Amino acid sequence: MKIINNIQEMQSTALSYRREGRRLAFVPTMGYLHEGHASLLREGRRRGDLLLLSIFVNPIQFGQNEDLGRYPRNMERDRSVAADCGVDILFNPDAGGMYPEGFQTGVTVRQISLPLCGASRPGHFDGVATVVTKLFNIVQPDVALFGRKDFQQLALIRRMTTDLNLPVEIIAMPIVREPDGLAMSSRNAYLTADERESALCLFRAISRVRDLFASGERSIKALLHEASAIIELEPSVQIEYLEFRDAVLLKDVQVADSITLLAMAVKIGSTRLIDNTVLGEEL
Ligand code: PAJ
Repeated sequence: MKIINNIQEMQSTALSYRREGRRLAFVPTMGYLHEGHASLLREGRRRGDLLLLSIFVNPIQFGQNEDLGRYPRNMERDRSVAADCGVDILFNPDAGGMYPEGFQTGVTVRQISLPLCGASRPGHFDGVATVVTKLFNIVQPDVALFGRKDFQQLALIRRMTTDLNLPVEIIAMPIVREPDGLAMSSRNAYLTADERESALCLFRAISRVRDLFASGERSIKALLHEASAIIELEPSVQIEYLEFRDAVLLKDVQVADSITLLAMAVKIGSTRLIDNTVLGEEL
């Protein structure tokens, strides 16, 4: 596995592989890799001749009071996970290279950025759209893989890729969960044992809503009521949002159907967790 820090070197290396007709599969991450990331890498390995992983904790997608400074990092372990998943090139640029002095261009995906996480994290999705555009231009992938765990991010990247005619195929991968249902996340590392236990209410709420939907419940009001009641049983969990939306444009919905998204964000202590499910799709 080759490690590249330099942006120009990454771009020219990618270009020369493409000229040879190799198919480049790309998985962008912020590191502290877990099984969710590994599932993307393994699928990328299957879909490309060359597998590229980026690890870059992108400062412009973090708000002022967010966890940029303490975002978990472990490059040594990440390298070994990457090598096990068959990564050919690990691209690990630094923030100064990605955002040199004078940097002032951004990408905004308007509507999709506004609700859900966009409402509580202003500027977050501009930061994501901008860095992913930059990474696509540097790595020049044929195919890029994203997890459904960050559903709004995935919807935004799909929209941006279409709107800006980016020549990249976007692949969506299922949410990887711990055996007890907790969605894997680098931020789970922040949780104490008690908080980890409380966090299971997210999956309990998702499971209950899916069961109700499967048995014919279509009222958003009733489903919302059930989901919030389950989460409110945990005194240490604060709901930031709990909403049903259509899974394509993230618009409001009144009646649930198979493409209805249930998305939620909570705070447990100082840790923010998100989870979601699309009612008509497999878990
Ligand atoms: P990060 O949180 O490191 O996630 C990288 C990719 O892994 C994303 O596509 C995310 O959806 C996916 N992922 C994370 N947890 C997952 C899980 N439990 N199951 C399946 N996929 C999972 O998302 C980002 O980084 C950044 O915003 C990034 C796109 C790299 C831009 O900076």
